[in-house]
Amino acid sequence: MSSDDDTKDMVETVDVSPREAESSIPQAPGADVFRQLLHQAVRVADMANSQAMRMALDFAKVYEREQGVRKEFENQLKQMTLMEKQATRYAEDLAGMLRSERERRQELERALAQERIASEELRRTGLQGISHLLLAATIKDRTTGTHLQRVRRYVEAIAQRLGLPEDLVEEFGYSSVMHDVGKIHTPDHILQSEHVLSDDEFSVIKQHCIDGEKMLGTARFFETARAIAREHHERWDGKGYPDGKKGEEISLAARIVSIADVFDALTSKRPYKEAWSAEAGLKAIEAGAGERFDPEIVAGFIALAGEGVLERISSEVAASEDEDHSGSSAK
Ligand SMILES: [Fe+2]
Ligand SMILES: [Fe+2]
Repeated sequence: MSSDDDTKDMVETVDVSPREAESSIPQAPGADVFRQLLHQAVRVADMANSQAMRMALDFAKVYEREQGVRKEFENQLKQMTLMEKQATRYAEDLAGMLRSERERRQELERALAQERIASEELRRTGLQGISHLLLAATIKDRTTGTHLQRVRRYVEAIAQRLGLPEDLVEEFGYSSVMHDVGKIHTPDHILQSEHVLSDDEFSVIKQHCIDGEKMLGTARFFETARAIAREHHERWDGKGYPDGKKGEEISLAARIVSIADVFDALTSKRPYKEAWSAEAGLKAIEAGAGERFDPEIVAGFIALAGEGVLERISSEVAASEDEDHSGSSAK
């Protein structure tokens, strides 16, 4: 019901007819009606007032609530904006970190690549040095060519069988070919002598180990080669030369080369002897285990022979020699 209807209703309920009890009292006609009307008007005004008041209060409440919601919303918005800014900053920081990390890694990779190139160059230079040395040695000692190739391959096979890492296997291999470079200084008549050497001649022969080590300088690349040159005539029981080193005092590379070198010398033809059979050579090596040679390496060498590895190496070297010199090898 609207307030207009309300008011009409209230007005209609007012009884304005003269009452019987009062009709006996003379009074000004209309005064009573007026009073009643006035009274009525006041009541209507009151009601309208209180309704207006109620509406105002309701409105105030709604307004207050809306203000509260708005504030809350504004706060949340502010917080979200803050969080968004923070997130953006984090993302930028992270991107920056990733960028610098990537740059660092690229720099590192570049440095590593340069390092690889440098060490490869060093290796090539070293290998070139070896072939020059060997050329000189081969001119002097006619047996060295195939002997050195076989020794190298035997040494690599033994080192591999002992479980050494691939780079060490390679290093032992290329270093082994220089075991006799010191012989460049040994006079020809002693080197090619077909009779048993005198003590004096033998002491000259011993010198090739010391000369060889000296010739190989101080470069890290030749470190193993120096040890091999110096120690390849040492014996497991300490009765070898030039220093009389014993057991594991002798470097592993030299202990390996010693076996490969002796086996190949025995099974090759020399000015003073015929070539032994592989079986006879192996027997001699086996007999030297624990005396001349490291018994563990001898065991590995015998096993390689049993697997046919030594025979295969020997025939492969012979075949490559035939190819290189069209059958006129410098034997
Ligand atoms: Fe030697
Ligand atoms: Fe040799």
